[in-house]
Amino acid sequence: MRLQIALSATLAGLAVANPMNSPLNKRAAIDDCLKTANVPVNAPNSNDWRADSNPFNQRLKYTPVAMAVPTNVQQIAAAVSCAAKVGVKVNPKSGGHSYASFGLGGENGHFIVQLDRMNRVTYDSASQIATVEAGARLGHVATLLYNQGRRAFSHGTCPGVGVAGHSLHGGFGFSSHTYGLAVDWIVGATVVLANATIVETSETQNPEIFWALRGAGSNFGIVSTFRFKTFAAPSQVTVFEVNLPWNSAQAIVSGWTAIQDWLKAGAPKEVNGRVFGSAMQTQIQGLYHGTPAQLRTAIQPLLTKLGASLSRAQQYDWMGAFSYYTYGQQVDVTRPYNLVETFYSKSLVTPALPNNVLQNVANYWIQRAKSLNRDWFIIIDLYGGANSAITKVPANATSYPYRDPNNHLFLYEFYDRVRSGNYPNDGFSFLDGWVKAFTDGLSTSQWGMYINYADPTMNRATAQDVYYRTSLPRLKQLKAQLDPNELFYYPQAIEPAK
Ligand SMILES: Cc1cc2nc3c(=O)[nH]c(=O)nc-3n(C[C@H](O)[C@H](O)[C@H](O)COP(=O)(O)OP(=O)(O)OC[C@H]3O[C@@H](n4cnc5c(N)ncnc54)[C@H](O)[C@@H]3O)c2cc1C
Ligand SMILES: *[C@@H]1O[C@H](CO)[C@@H](O)[C@H](O)[C@H]1NC(C)=O
Ligand SMILES: *[C@@H]1O[C@H](CO)[C@@H](O)[C@H](O)[C@H]1NC(C)=O
Repeated sequence: MRLQIALSATLAGLAVANPMNSPLNKRAAIDDCLKTANVPVNAPNSNDWRADSNPFNQRLKYTPVAMAVPTNVQQIAAAVSCAAKVGVKVNPKSGGHSYASFGLGGENGHFIVQLDRMNRVTYDSASQIATVEAGARLGHVATLLYNQGRRAFSHGTCPGVGVAGHSLHGGFGFSSHTYGLAVDWIVGATVVLANATIVETSETQNPEIFWALRGAGSNFGIVSTFRFKTFAAPSQVTVFEVNLPWNSAQAIVSGWTAIQDWLKAGAPKEVNGRVFGSAMQTQIQGLYHGTPAQLRTAIQPLLTKLGASLSRAQQYDWMGAFSYYTYGQQVDVTRPYNLVETFYSKSLVTPALPNNVLQNVANYWIQRAKSLNRDWFIIIDLYGGANSAITKVPANATSYPYRDPNNHLFLYEFYDRVRSGNYPNDGFSFLDGWVKAFTDGLSTSQWGMYINYADPTMNRATAQDVYYRTSLPRLKQLKAQLDPNELFYYPQAIEPAK
């Protein structure tokens, strides 16, 4: 009885006249179906339930109607089949790092397929292909690939991020200028579709689904296993930093101009980096794929333009460099995983900024951000340019939309967090205003946003447009074909074409 009252309170508003639509009846129906199909579940309010429904972003907590914890693809298919039968929205959750808690459905009352019990990584040296289960986290994948064959593929720096959410929607990191995004290293995926069939996808098997998965995967199915091609992990890499004296709008404009001119004209492809700015400091942080001596030669033209020098140039082996950028977190993480934050975040992709835009952005940085007593940061990823592997991939090869060498030079993350308590209601306008300072001076064909840094404050139509841009019409067609009833739904999911 107590459970019933608590549930009705949490899920109030979802219930309508049809008794099958009541959350309690749905819970009973899905539990029953999963039990009959022998799909493992988390019992409501068990320790596992609490851990698995606790989102990375504590600002966005949601209560699922049920949670399956499959250990193989047949169980995933059975779970999807139950969801369809009962008529409840279903979402896969891998690393649970979605900024909008989309792995929990982005709202109350979804059925969650929690995948982190499936985290095997096996490397085959004959084909140089890694087979990776979808619930593995990046640090675990990197560690096992390195240990099994000194191999790697491109991905981000946070060890706890799930390989699935990350690689299906992009995946930028300190190999991306050299080797492309995580999505570019997927050569095959086993996926459970909305009709609960299990299909293989690759360039030659179900190529249209394979195209859609690589950029918008969360809309089309539940990937159980990936196949990634790999590269030989470089034996020597160099962690570097350049401190930037960005304490006035003028310093920002001139420094930013130097960086974007250098990147656009063709910064050497072995240079990977970002500008990291916070209330405390601004610096370029990066990883050079080569030795410190080679880095010095490669980066000198930029340093000359900036009038700056290297404040760090330190050689590591591959995993040493990965570890450096985790800032003390455990690298090989599986579960349980306990890191959380409370924050609001936004993203952008832009071309080189025209001077008037740069001036507005710099003014906002100095006058608004630096004067606020808040815990914010901005990351400006060195994404494109003449030598970037990301924009060498043909625009239509994957549904991931940012491949234009003329327009896609920088990827941004804007992040504002609180260390305790709730995120303040007046917090949102700070980052919204900063993003507006960029987009006001650009045409919509020049910029977009990145769903791996999802911003759930946007309405659905706007979100689909800014996340998928030129890929959206083709994605909507395919959504109509593969998931017309929107079983894989969250508030910013792709709508089927009418
Ligand atoms: C601390 C931190 C650091 C980060 N660093 C980087 C970075 O360096 N570079 C970068 O590009 N991004 C970075 N990100 C963003 C990260 O790439 C995204 O949040 C990513 O989507 C997380 O994937 P996940 O599996 O952990 O998340 P989840 O919340 O589990 O899933 C995210 C989305 O993918 C879907 N999904 C999950 N598993 C599957 C599956 N098997 N099949 C189909 N859909 C699935 C979910 O339903 C959800 O919509 C970072 C995020 C955090 C929190
Ligand atoms: C499921 O959907 C796929 C893709 O549309 C299709 O090829 C397959 O035949 C469908 N399976 C069933 C059982 O309907
Ligand atoms: C991309 O476009 C080219 C040229 O129009 C075409 O030949 C190719 O098949 C397309 N690729 C995909 C995956 O759609």
